Amino acid sequence: MCGIIGYCGHRPAVPLVLEGLSRLEYRGYDSAGLAYLQFDTLKVIRSEGKLSRLVDKVAQNANTFAPIGIGHTRWATHGLPVEKNAHPHKSYNGVLAIVHNGIIENFQEIKNVLLEKGYEFYSDTDTEVLANLIADELDNLFLEKFAHKFSDDRDFFVKKAQENFQEFKADMEEAFCRALQKAHGAYAVVMLSPLIPQHIMAARLAAPLLMGIGVGEYFVASDVPAFLPYTREVVFLDDREVAIVSTSSFEVKNILSRKIIEKEIHHIPWDLQGAAKDGYKHFMLKEIMEQPKVLRDCLVGRLQNTDILLPELDKISIPERIRIIACGTSYNAGLWAQYYLEQLGQIPVSVEIASEFRYRKPIVSKNELIIVISQSGETADTLGALRLCKELGNTVLGVCNVLGSSVAREADVCVYTQAGPEISVASTKAMLSQMVVLLLLAMYLGQRKNIGLEKRKIIIEELMRLPDILEKTLPVLREKAQIFAYKYTFAKSFFYLGRGTAFSLALEGALKLKELSYIHAEGYATGEMKHGPIALIDPDFPTFALLFDDEYFSKVRSGILEVKSRQGHVITLLQEGTTLDNDDLWYIPKTSLPEFLALPAMQLFSYEMADYLGKDVDQPRNLAKSVTVE
Ligand code: F6R
Repeated sequence: MCGIIGYCGHRPAVPLVLEGLSRLEYRGYDSAGLAYLQFDTLKVIRSEGKLSRLVDKVAQNANTFAPIGIGHTRWATHGLPVEKNAHPHKSYNGVLAIVHNGIIENFQEIKNVLLEKGYEFYSDTDTEVLANLIADELDNLFLEKFAHKFSDDRDFFVKKAQENFQEFKADMEEAFCRALQKAHGAYAVVMLSPLIPQHIMAARLAAPLLMGIGVGEYFVASDVPAFLPYTREVVFLDDREVAIVSTSSFEVKNILSRKIIEKEIHHIPWDLQGAAKDGYKHFMLKEIMEQPKVLRDCLVGRLQNTDILLPELDKISIPERIRIIACGTSYNAGLWAQYYLEQLGQIPVSVEIASEFRYRKPIVSKNELIIVISQSGETADTLGALRLCKELGNTVLGVCNVLGSSVAREADVCVYTQAGPEISVASTKAMLSQMVVLLLLAMYLGQRKNIGLEKRKIIIEELMRLPDILEKTLPVLREKAQIFAYKYTFAKSFFYLGRGTAFSLALEGALKLKELSYIHAEGYATGEMKHGPIALIDPDFPTFALLFDDEYFSKVRSGILEVKSRQGHVITLLQEGTTLDNDDLWYIPKTSLPEFLALPAMQLFSYEMADYLGKDVDQPRNLAKSVTVE
């Protein structure tokens, strides 16, 4: 949660920080702020609400060419989303300001100690506590050397720093590391101080942070899009690493040993266009409409006649069982894949919600392959589950979209989903890409076990046809989505029903509708309706039903008719060549993989509903793209 950025370079920092924040706003958007140095004075501008409010405030207040700045866009964890809690937070004495993503779990203990020492706090945040802890460590060093503290004689310290900033750099670094050693929990933190005017310092523990390496300029940010227009060369910081960045160089050290670490520079293939709206009204719409390309990108290099090529996995032995662990939409993709992995790989599969799994003291057998699915690769619960499984000695396969993310780096192997940057908070194309990769994995396991060749051939043929079919179908789906969305805006609640491979899609359809339009929605297995939920059906409680031409067809049809006979309105998504006695039929072309058309149809339905109701489609209330806190 929260997006952070720092800049050190040859250009004015404030516009760059604001631009970076606009690309990170998907990570949190309840308040925002930035800090820069006006000569030797630390300036902080903050605002409640969305980034546009900060932009207006900066336009009125900051006319600066400062080459160094830090910024933050917040998703509240400690304290209400009001200006006093917005980042950056200054230490009480003004010696430094920090932006922070994560949670300092022992902040109250630290605060109590600082309160006893006479510190004052102006916000409810753990971040302000961390800022003061660093300042306190710095004062301890200053007391030893100069026999007085920063607040006793600010001018003395600023003048001294101008004469010999190297010495102050070492002190700042020491204080920063000492404070971070005392902080428990998670942090990605960037610091700015008038005592080291040409530098920023950054560090991470269990929260994403990376550096962009430009020509004569450096960025530190939560995610690559923040600096994508300026550089695609990236250094991924690891846990307990501190980066000391100046306008001309950078150094990375271990926070505990203070030893220098040589970091590899990675080239990121994503381009700016991938992270821009491309003329669409919303990122979400763009990301839904680019799914044919995503499908193609996921398949490139992975199919050869009837063979699935996943060389990353060749060294993994065939497991006796598979356990899939994920959250939200990624969990739904995992549930969907269970059917295919069991059918095509003939391996028993269980699927778990990461936040439940990790605290249950789960019994995991050694022969289970753990698959964690995560678009961002930074979801705290998923990462926690991954780490637990590794401690238990299991092999972990990551299915992940973001290159170099924590899941990608910590899993034993990672298969990338190739969806490109997903900016809209509601996940769309990422799920489709996860489904493709998991389907390939199911076929790959079958291939390694020498089973299911005929079935594999049929699926591969269909997968190759799908991008073109989807490309032709998407505009038609959108028109239909508009018609149905407008017709059903009266609904306060919705059921989504599916069976077999459609069940997990029903869960996903319901999730998309509730998160975007704030309409209550429940996804159910069609066969479960008669065990209780059908009691809710009346003319004001409509149903979105998925009726695929598969072995469950007649049972699902009966389920839909049961709903209809209780005066429930039903939108039925079904395949050409089948029919049903119902008014609102929504046809998709016939294919043996209807899920790849049904998913975009439901995404479009939720999109159109939310847009029609005037909701904030790309940034729904209370949400953030990457849930890096528990
Ligand atoms: C819903 C959505 C979330 C994420 C979930 C997991 O639209 O985006 O439910 O799917 O927070 O995120 P990742 O896949 O990044 O681990």
